[in-house]
Amino acid sequence: MNVVLASFLLTLVWPTRCLLLRQDAQRDLHPKLASLLAALNQTARLKLGSDRSRSAAPYLRNLEATLLAMAQNTSQIPAQLLHGVKDDVMTMVANELKPRILTEHRQIQSQIAEFSGLFAKCEGVRGDGLNESYLKQEALPVLIANHEACRKQESLLQDRLEACRTALQSSRLVDASTCESARLLDRIPEMSVCSTLNGESAEAYHRRMLEVFQDRLKSIRIRRLLCENTTGALHLQESACDTQDQEVKHQRQSCNLMQRQLDSAACDLSLSMNTTCSKYQACRSQATLSYDLVRNTVKARESNLHDEWKALQHIECILEAMVGSDIMRAAQDCGRAIYSVAHLVVNYITMPSCQPCEDLAEVPGTSDYNATVFAGIPANAPVAECAASCCLA
Ligand SMILES: *[C@@H]1O[C@H](CO)[C@@H](O)[C@H](O)[C@H]1NC(C)=O
Ligand SMILES: *[C@@H]1O[C@H](CO)[C@@H](O)[C@H](O)[C@H]1NC(C)=O
Ligand SMILES: *[C@@H]1O[C@H](CO)[C@@H](O)[C@H](O)[C@H]1NC(C)=O
Ligand SMILES: *[C@@H]1O[C@H](CO)[C@@H](O)[C@H](O)[C@H]1NC(C)=O
Ligand SMILES: *[C@@H]1O[C@H](CO)[C@@H](O)[C@H](O)[C@H]1NC(C)=O
Ligand SMILES: *[C@@H]1O[C@H](CO)[C@@H](O)[C@H](O)[C@H]1NC(C)=O
Repeated sequence: MNVVLASFLLTLVWPTRCLLLRQDAQRDLHPKLASLLAALNQTARLKLGSDRSRSAAPYLRNLEATLLAMAQNTSQIPAQLLHGVKDDVMTMVANELKPRILTEHRQIQSQIAEFSGLFAKCEGVRGDGLNESYLKQEALPVLIANHEACRKQESLLQDRLEACRTALQSSRLVDASTCESARLLDRIPEMSVCSTLNGESAEAYHRRMLEVFQDRLKSIRIRRLLCENTTGALHLQESACDTQDQEVKHQRQSCNLMQRQLDSAACDLSLSMNTTCSKYQACRSQATLSYDLVRNTVKARESNLHDEWKALQHIECILEAMVGSDIMRAAQDCGRAIYSVAHLVVNYITMPSCQPCEDLAEVPGTSDYNATVFAGIPANAPVAECAASCCLA
């Protein structure tokens, strides 16, 4: 038995710290009791829970064995001394060893509980991101509608310009023909015009010639006026078409600007959804990774705490047995007893399921985007090439 105790003590390598066990000269008279007390003293200094990777349970079980062996041989020890030792050890167990286990249980339980907050933070990151995206998304229909209205106006102006150009074409033809006929008339007549008719008197000749020349003069003047009139009309038409052309160009510029804003807003939305997604996934995998890690160490500590608690309960039981009448019987009962550790069970959290990522189906530059956003755009007011950031990337 001394050998067992000695080797047990040799395994204790923790730094020493005084335990308040009564110094009693009487105890030193009983070497086995003295070494038991020393062992207890050492065990108390294990500082249960200070080294989380190692369980104190094996030492506690060793102590149990020592106590049990002692219990079998208490007849030589004075009853009063035995009671003193029992009280000391009970006090140590109750005041020091058990509270340490309870404290550590609270610590590991709160370590686990912190992860609820961590996972909730990930959902918060996602929620904030989705809210931000939602605001961006809300602005899009207005931009789409304004752009479409602009292109429709552009299309109307384009139609009007086409009509103007068609009219201009016919004005050109009319002007060309009126001015050509004016040009044909505007010349000195052939000599033959002036030849006399058979038997014509001089007076009749001159009267006739006067009429001929007056008619010719009138025709020349009318044709010239007509030419000037159609040429004037042509110039009016030309300047009308020029103005309309400017209007179309101006309209197209402002539509392109609106499209640019629309494309950029859609890029922004897509980027913001993607960013939210990657932030959320990073947060989740970080949290999951560290939760797995912590859960594993906590599980190991939890199981150690259960062992330690049961060992302490067992020690308490044996100590009670040592001062009873039928020591061996009571000690056997202690071995069969079931010690509950229900209050030391750690409640693990259930990881909330990972939400699927949302990304924008209609990214600018894709056919989906063209089909959705530019569906109502007239063919004669075509949209510009996308120049927003996500198209250029
Ligand atoms: C417990 O150990 C400390 C340090 O070794 C010692 O000072 C103290 O006297 C011991 N107590 C008993 C009751 O053995
Ligand atoms: C009890 O003590 C006596 C006398 O010291 C010794 O002979 C005996 O072997 C001890 N019994 C046990 C079970 O340790
Ligand atoms: C998202 O917005 C809604 C309504 O504006 C708000 O009730 C909710 O708390 C917001 N969520 C987050 C995570 O900010
Ligand atoms: C051309 O003639 C028409 C009819 O005679 C007249 O109404 C119009 O004002 C004239 N246009 C010009 C440009 O002289
Ligand atoms: C967002 O992610 C999707 C899918 O990975 C990708 O097709 C799209 O280009 C991304 N958007 C931006 C703005 O980077
Ligand atoms: C989308 O429309 C733009 C503008 O017309 C065009 O340049 C681009 O090629 C289209 N993209 C696809 C994938 O159809």
